Amino acid sequence: MKEAVAATRVVPDKNGRFGAFGGKFVPETLMNALTELEAAFAEAMQDPAFREELNGLLREYAGRPTPLTYAERLTEELGGARIYLKREDLNHTGAHKLNNALGQGLLAKRMGKKSIIAETGAGQHGVASATVAAKLGLSCKVFMGEEDIRRQSLNVFRMNLLGAEVVPAVSGSRTLKDATNEAIRYWVSNVEETFYVIGSVVGPHPYPYIVREFQKIIGEETRAQILQMLGKLPDEIIACVGGGSNAIGMFYPFISDGQVALRGVEAAGRGVDTDKHAATLSLGRPGVIHGSLTYLLQDEHGQVQEAHSISAGLDYPGVGPEHAYLKDSGRVTYTSVTDEEALAAVQMLCRTEGIIPALESAHAIAEAMKRAPQMSKDEILVICLSGRGDKDVLTIQDALGSKEEGKQQ
Ligand SMILES: Cc1ncc(COP(=O)(O)O)c(C=O)c1O
Repeated sequence: MKEAVAATRVVPDKNGRFGAFGGKFVPETLMNALTELEAAFAEAMQDPAFREELNGLLREYAGRPTPLTYAERLTEELGGARIYLKREDLNHTGAHKLNNALGQGLLAKRMGKKSIIAETGAGQHGVASATVAAKLGLSCKVFMGEEDIRRQSLNVFRMNLLGAEVVPAVSGSRTLKDATNEAIRYWVSNVEETFYVIGSVVGPHPYPYIVREFQKIIGEETRAQILQMLGKLPDEIIACVGGGSNAIGMFYPFISDGQVALRGVEAAGRGVDTDKHAATLSLGRPGVIHGSLTYLLQDEHGQVQEAHSISAGLDYPGVGPEHAYLKDSGRVTYTSVTDEEALAAVQMLCRTEGIIPALESAHAIAEAMKRAPQMSKDEILVICLSGRGDKDVLTIQDALGSKEEGKQQ
């Protein structure tokens, strides 16, 4: 474990590798753009003016720092560890996605690009990108699977209202993977004038690194807040994993604190023993998706398998390469939670804390509902509440409605 902890501090290496994972598996036409991006990012992060502009926006526009809330009634209900919620749901636009979109948007502007593109699943990254484009005076196209357009109609309306164009992806399962394919295809043909704002710690190097750097503010704030509140670090931290950006953002500042257990939660959909899940780290094998070598859900011929989750932000058949590395090194434990468990967790948080969580975040809560009762009352459990659930209320209503109907039949 100690070796894994030490190794994790220096990834990615100069080739963008997290151990065996990561890298840059892209068409020749994109290599130059990625090299330019890497240089521009390194230069921007060295520039105090860039950092001050970003910090100013995070503070005065996004509303950071987000609070760390003691979940008193949830703690009582579960009867074990003391539970704290990192409130990314209170970020402007309702999720952690804005932290990264602001960073990449500022970088796009600094690189002289007039337009940004983004892919989106749940629509939260799309909304964050559309918001940043409006704020910084850039044009914005968001690629989104047709199925997600249906599931997340409220977010589609928000993006349009913010002045972005939503481009439907109609291939495959018409979800996040297909939207990302379309965004990459568009970028290859328009690479000179367009900046691609990737929404998670996925894609070719340097994206997984850049997104982690913009999201690690979640864990940095949490660390400072819990130390100030309790004078000690948490015993365990739980975050949901789609591509893995809220989880990496939360975990990264705690990686070298070996006493803090870190748990990533994937979507088990209708169950890991069915073919309808998105448990990439639990059931996938190494393969290449969207320019990166990582764990991947694939069939026996190496073809990418469709992922399923009730939550549009988690049904991705790949995962960020740093998570693949952290799994293999043993520093982070990855588990999965079904649609049904996530729905029960939504209801639990609503009833005990008066907070409607995003379906993605509900996976982390569901895992905490299993873990907290096994922990002692003086242990501390932090949950990353990555987003709010307003976008999901229709899906939740449908799912709970059909469960009730099933019971009556
Ligand atoms: C609220 C929320 N949480 C989590 C996720 C999953 O993304 P990631 O794993 O990159 O944090 C999403 C994705 O859309 C989201 O909207």
